[in-house]
Amino acid sequence: PPSLTLLGIESSCDDTGAALVTGQPGAARVLSSVVEGQAELHAAFGGVVPEIAARAHAERIDSCVARALEEAGITLAEVDAIAVTAGPGLIGGVLSGVMCAKGLAAATGKPLIGVNHLAGHALTPRLTDGAPFPYLMLLVSGGHCQFLLVHAPDRFTRLGGTIDDAPGEAFDKTARLLALPQPGGPSVERTARDGDAKRFRFPRPLLDRPGCDMSFSGLKTALLRERDALMQDNTLRAGDRADLCAGFQQAVVDVLREKTARALDLYLAEAPAQPMIAVAGGVAANGAIRAALTGLCAERGVAFTAPPLALCTDNAAMIAYAGLERFAAGETDDMTLAARPRWPL
Ligand code: KG4
Ligand code: ZN
Repeated sequence: PPSLTLLGIESSCDDTGAALVTGQPGAARVLSSVVEGQAELHAAFGGVVPEIAARAHAERIDSCVARALEEAGITLAEVDAIAVTAGPGLIGGVLSGVMCAKGLAAATGKPLIGVNHLAGHALTPRLTDGAPFPYLMLLVSGGHCQFLLVHAPDRFTRLGGTIDDAPGEAFDKTARLLALPQPGGPSVERTARDGDAKRFRFPRPLLDRPGCDMSFSGLKTALLRERDALMQDNTLRAGDRADLCAGFQQAVVDVLREKTARALDLYLAEAPAQPMIAVAGGVAANGAIRAALTGLCAERGVAFTAPPLALCTDNAAMIAYAGLERFAAGETDDMTLAARPRWPL
């Protein structure tokens, strides 16, 4: 089969991305991947402000596409199709991306392909490792937390997920409660390094219940209680902060490890020929989480893969790749492609 080259566009949250990917399903590579974050625009508001995000995407998206083409050393004429995140996400941002992609498709006559952002994350191990179907994916980010059995590019079975907060959200809230910088994941992980994870006993929600569902919102309540007991003159000692971070992170690690073990049982019951677990989403950047899952997989004789950081967090290469899988299967969209705030897999 011929090699395909796709342009991908991502703008569903607070990262504007454009990327070029070339190859075939299960054997593709990234030619370029440009991501422009907006952290500094939202920092003062304690969260992503949809209107600010939408405006920033609209302003930056064309230059991201131009840079991605330049870095890949190709022109738009050499692209086979244009893939774009059509949801789920903040609707203003998704619209910016979809309108940009439609404009490029109309101007060049190239096929247009709408991609589900979650499918982009879930298919990333196919891009980075050529992961064979079916594989088990743990998708953990600021907005998402679910176990997916990935049977095919367009066929996913959800085994379970969070019933409240996503783990990234819990990391972000923890950082806010402890006056650490956003995004919370990296700062909490860094602070936890000097801490004693055993000093505080945080809950391990839902471990006593069967199944793969998880809950993380109770952790922040427990953390708030411990923090307030430690606060003196409205300040927290550095050692206390480190111990709180370490204890919190360990609770998240324990829950993810145990629930992954259960999801693994369900997956292995299907007797996959080459069993593999993959993680994706921003929280997959966490070293302690990666180490726990690596250990679990080694024990169970299952391959483990975690994409490089830049492909774990929001990016357009995963969108280009998911588009490549759709395009190779003969699927395209037309100019009626709609931006969807909600779009379950
Ligand atoms: O996938 P992502 O870039 O965006 C979406 O949420 O879709 O994930 C961002 C989330 C944030 O909540 C951030 O705090 C978390 O991923 N994160 C981490 C780490 N790095 C980023 N969480 C834990 N440990 C990390 N090292
Ligand atoms: Zn994402």
